[in-house]
Amino acid sequence: MTELLPMAIDCQHLTYRYGQFTAVDDLTLKVRPGETMGLLGPNGAGKTTLVRMLTTLTPIQRGDLRIFGLDSVRQTTDIRSNIGYVPQQLSIEPALSGRQNVEWFARLYGVPRAERTDRVEQALAAMELLDVADRLAGAYSGGMVRRLEVAQALVNRPSLLVLDEPTVGLDPIARDGVWTQVQSMQAEFGMTVLLTTHYMEEADALCDRVALMHRGVLRAVGTPTELKSKVSPSATLEDVFRHYAASDLSEASEPSDFREIRSSRKVASRAS
Ligand SMILES: Nc1ncnc2c1ncn2[C@@H]1O[C@H](COP(=O)(O)OP(=O)(O)OP(=O)(O)O)[C@@H](O)[C@H]1O
Ligand SMILES: [Mg+2]
Repeated sequence: MTELLPMAIDCQHLTYRYGQFTAVDDLTLKVRPGETMGLLGPNGAGKTTLVRMLTTLTPIQRGDLRIFGLDSVRQTTDIRSNIGYVPQQLSIEPALSGRQNVEWFARLYGVPRAERTDRVEQALAAMELLDVADRLAGAYSGGMVRRLEVAQALVNRPSLLVLDEPTVGLDPIARDGVWTQVQSMQAEFGMTVLLTTHYMEEADALCDRVALMHRGVLRAVGTPTELKSKVSPSATLEDVFRHYAASDLSEASEPSDFREIRSSRKVASRAS
């Protein structure tokens, strides 16, 4: 049955260059409907560039992309109406209230007029923003802004939700709240989720599978359990990350005595 459904994301040989620099290199990846896929990789690996192609915001230079069987070149509008996207860069309008920001997205993404008010209230309630919904978004705290962006992305009940580091700067309770809400929408509407994160515990707990990128290349794809067992019997997902990407992490190339100084500084600053 599942085999007959088109893949939520089916990209083949995607390549993206900024001038001479290849940010995404011949990348092929499939994401099944209803799946939660984590996209991991060090800073500069090419995650945001890939995500922007998958959401049709960046045009494809080379390769082929289908979202739920829709062609990314000829059916861009259809694809966009199926997608909710939380970009890495802040995307709210500070001169509008929280509620107006979500209403704006509801109009933009074609939520029928008769349903708009209810949907906006539901999205605000889901992100626990009703109390502050009439304040200007420009006066929100960083975490509240992030929650507002998730509310915007959920307002059209997307089939595919794409989240580029959605929980950066959120306190632990707010972070749990975002994921609880995303998972309940997944259970209710069968939504597919693609997320990038640098929090390995988050990826381990939430993702059915993870894809690890390094310098534009897809290095590994699998369930967290599969990938961990390939590295070592006791490996964590962070060990998997280091295994595939260590040479890009500045700490890994530092001399060990410098690493010690740095970690003792961290301990000292935490203690003070
Ligand atoms: N507009 C641009 N012009 C030139 N180079 C760019 C541009 N945007 C990104 N790059 C380069 O492409 C590479 C991939 O960047 P990208 O933002 O996709 O990485 P990322 O994996 O999302 O990193 P991070 O974890 O820091 O968000 C980086 O080397 C970056 O400097
Ligand atoms: Mg990024």
